[in-house]
Amino acid sequence: MPTALITGASAGIGQELAKCFATDHHSVILVARRKQKLQQLAYDLREIHGVQAHVFDVDLGKPGAAKELYDKVKEADLEVDFLVNNAGIGQNGKFHELDADQMSTMINLNITALTELTRYFLPEMIERNKGRILNVGSTAGFQAGPHMAVYYATKAYVYSFTEALTEELKGTKITITNLAPGATASEFQSRAEMDNSMLFALGAMTSEAVAKAGYKGMMKGKDLVIPGLKNKLIPISANILPRKVIRKITHRANKDK
Ligand SMILES: NC(=O)c1ccc[n+]([C@@H]2O[C@H](COP(=O)([O-])OP(=O)(O)OC[C@H]3O[C@@H](n4cnc5c(N)ncnc54)[C@H](OP(=O)(O)O)[C@@H]3O)[C@@H](O)[C@H]2O)c1
Repeated sequence: MPTALITGASAGIGQELAKCFATDHHSVILVARRKQKLQQLAYDLREIHGVQAHVFDVDLGKPGAAKELYDKVKEADLEVDFLVNNAGIGQNGKFHELDADQMSTMINLNITALTELTRYFLPEMIERNKGRILNVGSTAGFQAGPHMAVYYATKAYVYSFTEALTEELKGTKITITNLAPGATASEFQSRAEMDNSMLFALGAMTSEAVAKAGYKGMMKGKDLVIPGLKNKLIPISANILPRKVIRKITHRANKDK
């Protein structure tokens, strides 16, 4: 049974991605901080799909956490065929007023952990000439995001980093995919204090629909997956309209209704 490691599997898109893998008879390694939620999901996936499900509670927002997770996976003698870098958080508000520690945690989680986990697991995939990586970015990665400046910049990093590796991996059987969802119903919006934002008032996709699109795209080896028609228009308009127009629209969308 091939094995998928999914970060941020205790809620939202990550939880739904874990279900996609298990439904398709893959073993799963579930990672997040809330152990009880991971254990419940692991139990359900074993019961319903008869797959192996492992749980690692690691805080990936802390420096060195990716190495800690990699070592734990090695100690458990597990091989990772699919790496899903999904765990991520947002932070909404004026840059100079936002909590600085939380901002650093977001950068550690959205950028550093994703990069380091890719660095640790990719060499083994190259050695086996087999494997797939799914990095969960966002439509936020296609433009600057006033009122969420750092979050948008972290997702621009995911877009750029993933695209660069797509090219480096040409000629191998390893694929890397950037899943770029728009507004999605999950715990994200309340954690990022976006419950009253214009963006979410305009409607959100379900985590299930986003995960299914990402899973399908990754399995096909696509480099970029943007779920939903409305979201597909975002990079197109970002390419057509002047940047100063796009950033005004984005600013409005990120603020409260
Ligand atoms: N929802 C949206 O509108 C939206 C849109 C575009 C992109 N995305 C991206 O989609 C990804 C998944 O988000 P979601 O919408 O599914 O959000 P979510 O429901 O809040 O889930 C986030 C997951 O990340 C985990 N996580 C948070 N901090 C962590 C940490 N320090 N260490 C380890 N795990 C941590 C959470 O688990 P614990 O709390 O148990 O650790 C949870 O499992 C993120 O990268 C997000 O940026 C979301």
